Amino acid sequence: MTTTLVTGIAELVTHDPTHGPGLGTVENAAIVVDDDAVLWTGPATSAPAADRRIDVAGRAVIPGFVDSHTHLVFAGDRAREFEARMTGERYDGGGIATTIAATRAADDARLMANGRRLLAELRAQGTTTVEIKSGYGLTVADEARLLRIARELTPETTFLGGHVVPPEFAADRAAYVELATGPMLDACAPHARWADVFCEPRSLAAFDGDESRTILEAAAHAGLELRVHAGQLGPGPGVALAVELGAASVDHCTFLTDDDVDALAAAARDSGPVATLLPGVEFSTRSPYPDARRLLDAGVTVALATDCNPGTCYSTSMPWCIALAVHEMGMTPAEALGAATLGGAQALRRPDVGHLRVGARPDLCVVDAPSYRHLAYRAGVPIARHWRSGQTSHEA
Ligand code: NIG
Ligand code: FE
Repeated sequence: MTTTLVTGIAELVTHDPTHGPGLGTVENAAIVVDDDAVLWTGPATSAPAADRRIDVAGRAVIPGFVDSHTHLVFAGDRAREFEARMTGERYDGGGIATTIAATRAADDARLMANGRRLLAELRAQGTTTVEIKSGYGLTVADEARLLRIARELTPETTFLGGHVVPPEFAADRAAYVELATGPMLDACAPHARWADVFCEPRSLAAFDGDESRTILEAAAHAGLELRVHAGQLGPGPGVALAVELGAASVDHCTFLTDDDVDALAAAARDSGPVATLLPGVEFSTRSPYPDARRLLDAGVTVALATDCNPGTCYSTSMPWCIALAVHEMGMTPAEALGAATLGGAQALRRPDVGHLRVGARPDLCVVDAPSYRHLAYRAGVPIARHWRSGQTSHEA
């Protein structure tokens, strides 16, 4: 297999503790990869030979971003809803029905084309691993086709039949929960690794604690691993449920109680859920930002993700999320980069991505700047190029 030496790296972020504490950064560095793995990292002066050589001319190289929370398979957009929000309307999840109607009406080719367009956009901004949820179909056939499409785009697919109760079941929520834990789950489980639920306090959109438990337990019984949307609209039962059921990640965490933080901190000692923060949502819904500092100081692993969806955050940009996390949530540039790479990998239980230790997948992102700090400092800084596993021996 062809080996590639990437050199001219002003700053290489590895997350390899043998290169030092923190991000495991090496200055004036080189990295050797083949199509499957990172083979060597260190100072350029001691780099081994390789079959080909690429000079990145004084830029920073970091692990490709791991975007552990997106909803990329949908049709239509909600620009008018966004505009109304910017003049004072609150986000309450009601607009999800608009996207459900548009998605149901779209054929597979259209959904696939939109998904591929967004995936390309996300890759161009340095994301090399992405999770994609269903949740805009909410019939047996539509959820299954959304997941079949998502599967073509990523192995990290999530069944989100528990997104909201679709309009035709508004008068009989229990019947919808039965569908989502029965025939819909049966049709979707073969195409999904994960299951998720939008859990909020009773009376708000989405599913209450009891309904969420029913949905998650059925999914776990069907062999799916769990993640939870929790605390987006208000403090609710989702965090406690995620901890109790051993979810990999609890996402949003905009509104947390003291007990929620204590539960996440206690669980963190035993590889409990990662707190996945989605600051693009707070930006796009004019909500308060989550208290990232409090979570980090309590020892909870934090991930950053885009949540790319047409309602609460129509962005594919992990660098933008990093800039928001630093400017608005008090994270340091190093913490934010860690959360966007290693944190996301932990939220997806993927030890092979999110870092550049020897043996990792060779997923590299070249920032068009000399240091990772520029991701926050020079918000909007371009990603010069990126490689993913399988592509390192040719131009990506
Ligand atoms: O993660 N919270 C629920 N789901 C999405 C938003 C869905 C929508 O508004 O279309 C989210 O924010
Ligand atoms: Fe979401």
